[in-house]
Amino acid sequence: PAAPAAPEKLLGFSAVGKSLLDSVVVPAGYTATAIYALGDPLDAATPAYKNDGSDTGFENRAGDHHDGMEWFGLDADGKASDSAIARGLLAVNHEATTDEKLASFFLHAGGGTTTLPRPAAEVDKETAIHGVAIVEVRAAAGKWEYQKGSAFNRRLTCLSEIEIAGPARGNRLLVTKYSAGGTKTRGTLNNCGTGKTPWGSFLTGEENFAGYFTRAATDDLARGNDKSVAALRRYGRNQGAASRHGWESAGADDKYQRWNNSKTGVSADGSDDYRNELNGMGYIVELDAYDKTALARKRSGLGRFAHESAAFGKPVAGAPLAVYMGDDSRNEYIYKYVSAANWDAADARPANRLAAGDKYLDNGKLYAAKFNADGGGQWIELSVANPLVAGYAAYAFADQADVVVNARLAADAVGATKMDRPEWCSVNPANGEVYFCLTNNSNRAVEPSGAQVAPDSANPRAYSDIKGGASLQKGNPNGHILRMKEGAAGAAAGIFSWDVYLFGAEASADPGKVNLSALAGDQDFSSPDGIVFSAATGICWIQTDDGAYTDVSNCMMLAAMPGQVGDGQKVSLSYPKAGGGALVLDTHVGKAPTRDNLKRFLVGPVGCEITGLCETPDGKAMFVNIQHPGESTSHLDIADPARYTSQWPGNAGYGAGKRPRSATIVITKNDGGRIGS
Ligand code: FEO
Ligand code: CA
Ligand code: CA
Ligand code: CA
Repeated sequence: PAAPAAPEKLLGFSAVGKSLLDSVVVPAGYTATAIYALGDPLDAATPAYKNDGSDTGFENRAGDHHDGMEWFGLDADGKASDSAIARGLLAVNHEATTDEKLASFFLHAGGGTTTLPRPAAEVDKETAIHGVAIVEVRAAAGKWEYQKGSAFNRRLTCLSEIEIAGPARGNRLLVTKYSAGGTKTRGTLNNCGTGKTPWGSFLTGEENFAGYFTRAATDDLARGNDKSVAALRRYGRNQGAASRHGWESAGADDKYQRWNNSKTGVSADGSDDYRNELNGMGYIVELDAYDKTALARKRSGLGRFAHESAAFGKPVAGAPLAVYMGDDSRNEYIYKYVSAANWDAADARPANRLAAGDKYLDNGKLYAAKFNADGGGQWIELSVANPLVAGYAAYAFADQADVVVNARLAADAVGATKMDRPEWCSVNPANGEVYFCLTNNSNRAVEPSGAQVAPDSANPRAYSDIKGGASLQKGNPNGHILRMKEGAAGAAAGIFSWDVYLFGAEASADPGKVNLSALAGDQDFSSPDGIVFSAATGICWIQTDDGAYTDVSNCMMLAAMPGQVGDGQKVSLSYPKAGGGALVLDTHVGKAPTRDNLKRFLVGPVGCEITGLCETPDGKAMFVNIQHPGESTSHLDIADPARYTSQWPGNAGYGAGKRPRSATIVITKNDGGRIGS
């Protein structure tokens, strides 16, 4: 008789060490394999990726910079299935591209043009590798592969037709030459974090969209009192600033000119040019992964900002739904959307998923979070009915559409708390608490100047002795993970309590000031970014996007079994001030992790960020994205592969060529067990 299987122990694996190798490192007993990389053909007619800069047809290939990702199961008949474990769709964000001096140099034979104007042929490749992919994957005899030619495969790019939904639909702020009625826009851009709705659709967040556009310094809307100038600046742009890739320089066609937000037409409302085009980006976008005929919808009610993930609180029948979201920019905010409709469990498998989205995501209230020093906080409504919004001196909101389109300004108006770059959030299925990665913040200083702000209890670190030096007051380079527990009203609660689950830090850093969570060498990390609780195991997976600690280790993923808000202690931090005296802050630190409940699980290849995570419902196959390996390569070295800082995944046996490629990996356990055991 076969020996009985050993009982499963979550986090029973041996932690991996820090790594600078150009490979994916996972614990003994696990296997990580690339299955879907930049340029892979999605339809039968598109040739294999040569990976030498000569490839074209990227509308039918995998995009670049794989980011957030969700799983949508398929049964043997190709129908949506919540239980399928060997066939499914991955909905993958393709956020951006590895660029230096305008051009995405790994996409072009000689590295591309680094001056304006950009050739149309280069720009057409670069626009096509942005957006979202739906790609079918299957396991046969334990081996996972993406399915070239699957009828489900499709790409959305930053030029695809998309509906505007929610309060901003049809508003004058969305009027463009492309949609004089303000009901549509072209494309989705800089897709970063993701979410999955309780009714089975995919959500993708548009993050750093603003830098792709340009508006002339001499634009004749620049009259000082024009609200569009205040809005442009609040979204991080100044008139005259160059666009990231110079796409608007490639020709007269509207697909290029839409990147130019200057007033070029004569209309009063912007229906003959693209002056309002920037207002069409920066949303949570919903699409149905199973239905390529349904146009994606931008859910404007969830606010316009640099979106990361969108995490639902656990649905409760008869109660509203809550969606948690972060705005990833320095000193931006945490948001919550609460649906007007109460959850009906019959909507879990709707005939029309996007119609369910209309019901729950187009009518609701948007809030921003204010954190208090005592460990409590408030959700403050962003509404024209809120006197703080209606009476805001710096910006006169015309209507609720103006509030959601300019959510940053509305959150300024209500005095929400400026955070250390809110990246992904995720809800702990064990207790409903909401975890937010606050990745880092170089604009946090004890004695702030310019754009800096002082530390507060929820963003308490302004030291930078990560290298063991003595320098103070240089921000929070390592980031932290904050968690929130809603008040008794649950999704609709106006109050919450919070603590800091973990502070990122080098293990050797000062435990009283920097390594406040007492991280050990096989669990230390910096700049948490992705965070996903597994629905299968309950494990909290933490992914990093780090620049502060990459001399010691490439970016990584850790597995955690956290406790709950309030399980730790109050800690008092004291920062000396230049003129004498000190800034003293109380913060609330979760119970320090043990070697058994926080372990490093994976380290990626050189120059990458680890991001995106989904799994089969049995928890036995996990999909993770390796974003921009080799990003640190100089574009001047394109002709010499020996000078690429990474050659992954070609060096791991995946695909042709030595140019590094963003890619999805699948992780399996060699004994067939669940991932993280
Ligand atoms: Fe796309 Fe904030 O990461
Ligand atoms: Ca991110
Ligand atoms: Ca990041
Ligand atoms: Ca990145």
